Amino acid sequence: MDFYENYESLATTNFKGELAEILATHTNQTPEKALASIETPPDSTMGHFAFPCFMLAKELKKAPPAIAAEIAEKISSNRPTWMGQAVATGPYVNFFLDRAAFADAVLQEVMAMGVAYGSDGDGLGQTVLVEYSSPNIAKHFHIGHLGSTIIGKTLDNIYRFLGYEVTSINHIGDWGTQFGKLITAYLKWGSEEEITKTEIDGLVKLYVKFHEEADNDPSLNDEARAWVVKMQNGDEEGLRIWKWFCDLSMKEYQRIYDRLDVNFDLTRGESYYNGRMEAIAESLEKKGLLIESEGAKIVNLEEYNMPPCLILRSDGGTLYPTRDIAAAIDRYETFEFIKCLYVTGNEQSLHFAQWMKVVELMGYPWASGLEHIPYGMYLFESGKMSTRRGEVIKMEDLLEEAVAKTLAIINEKNPNLANKETVAAQVGVGALKFNKLYNSRIKDTMFDWDRMLNFEGETGPYVQYTHARACSVLKKSLPDDSRMDFGALGLALISGPTFDAYLLTDDEAFDVLRLIHDFPEKIKDAAEKYEPFIIARQLVALAQAYNAFYHEHKVLTDDEPTRRARLALTAAVRQVLKTGLELLGISAPVVM
Ligand code: ARG
Repeated sequence: MDFYENYESLATTNFKGELAEILATHTNQTPEKALASIETPPDSTMGHFAFPCFMLAKELKKAPPAIAAEIAEKISSNRPTWMGQAVATGPYVNFFLDRAAFADAVLQEVMAMGVAYGSDGDGLGQTVLVEYSSPNIAKHFHIGHLGSTIIGKTLDNIYRFLGYEVTSINHIGDWGTQFGKLITAYLKWGSEEEITKTEIDGLVKLYVKFHEEADNDPSLNDEARAWVVKMQNGDEEGLRIWKWFCDLSMKEYQRIYDRLDVNFDLTRGESYYNGRMEAIAESLEKKGLLIESEGAKIVNLEEYNMPPCLILRSDGGTLYPTRDIAAAIDRYETFEFIKCLYVTGNEQSLHFAQWMKVVELMGYPWASGLEHIPYGMYLFESGKMSTRRGEVIKMEDLLEEAVAKTLAIINEKNPNLANKETVAAQVGVGALKFNKLYNSRIKDTMFDWDRMLNFEGETGPYVQYTHARACSVLKKSLPDDSRMDFGALGLALISGPTFDAYLLTDDEAFDVLRLIHDFPEKIKDAAEKYEPFIIARQLVALAQAYNAFYHEHKVLTDDEPTRRARLALTAAVRQVLKTGLELLGISAPVVM
């Protein structure tokens, strides 16, 4: 795969790693240990890396400042080109980058890596599964599933970018007692004509009606349960209606996925695992893990401070956790994953902790690769809201609103823009995604259109706008107005041997370059912690730094060497912003 052909070159700009090696030879410790001690001073006038000497004092029987002075002197006399200075300041050795050498190394790196800049191909040959979205049939795709879809898709992108073999999975909620209720309600009060016309709305109504009626007539519940058992045994009529409801629902979900630009390698309903419930119960039984309680079969998890995990219902019906256990076993047998991620709202944390514990107790060593990735919910002005008087916020309306609001902003700011509708969709949906991805995922997300659509805020549109600005600068540098592939243009500019890195040593350029340099590390960090915000924040910081540079320095000057150097910087910024946006599942339009 030539995407990763050059990934080894990442090592060349890993100055921190190189510094750790140097420090290791002078301090008699491993590079890993030295690396762990290297700090980043809060204020770069104090250096770009700092090495504290406190912990060496005991072994060397010397005061930390004396040790720092010694190390600084040794390293100064034999330092690599990128290191401008090594000076002792009290108990610290402070290291300064040589700005020109740094600029040269960073831009050469982006040039060599191109679209793969930011990836070290570390995941090659390893399989990761990412399960996300996973809505429930016969209900509207609600805002809770939006979070899962946005975060899951981003993790999916990040792991792929790092070279992992990723399979994305949509685990559709298509089984359970609710379908017995729905079929009962449909046969009693529904009509084919009505449901064909109203689709999910009609199904939701039937479901609500069932509950109203069952309050007065509890026998309806028995009827519903009987349907579930019948369907479990292959009842044709029940399964035909159920399948129809599934298809209706999937049709709506697909429209949403198309707008969100999401697709799955594997879409599979929970019902797929129906045939495996007995085998799981048996296997648990054999291992002495299954006990009976009030007619149901459970695994006791008291020892782990959790309520029991329900495996089989008293009427023989299957349960949500059991289907998850079956799915996990099946996934491992099929994919031999090193990790299988499950992105859901944090209200499901206990459910995941329980069934994952059961898988561990069953003795599967791969259980350690199962990972629940919880996230916080959306908050609205009026407090918690996903339903209001039983009404859900419909995703399609929400996406429609995002685009309409963005279009209004564009009409005001840039009325002559070509492809306004397309750009409005890219920016509006991008704003929604960025808003969810900008904070640590466990934090609740404030839903506020004005904030997420602010072109000057810490937002998706701001990053997209900066990307478009960089594109426009690059485009203007061309002799004519020909259409141009910006990727190729960026590379052509930097790959020319003629830019002079000494022209990129001003404070603003240096800030930009440091953010570009840290980008690969941030991606790895985001992958390890499952935290897209690490990338989102790096993008905002880079956009801010580039805008500061742009306001302070003219890029398209008459001075040819300066112009070339600043265009090279601009091309690198454009590349990183584009890669970053794409990792977050957000389009990067070239004009907006
Ligand atoms: N369908 C479930 C819901 O909407 C989410 C499924 C999460 N994934 C899983 N493997 N349990 O609540």
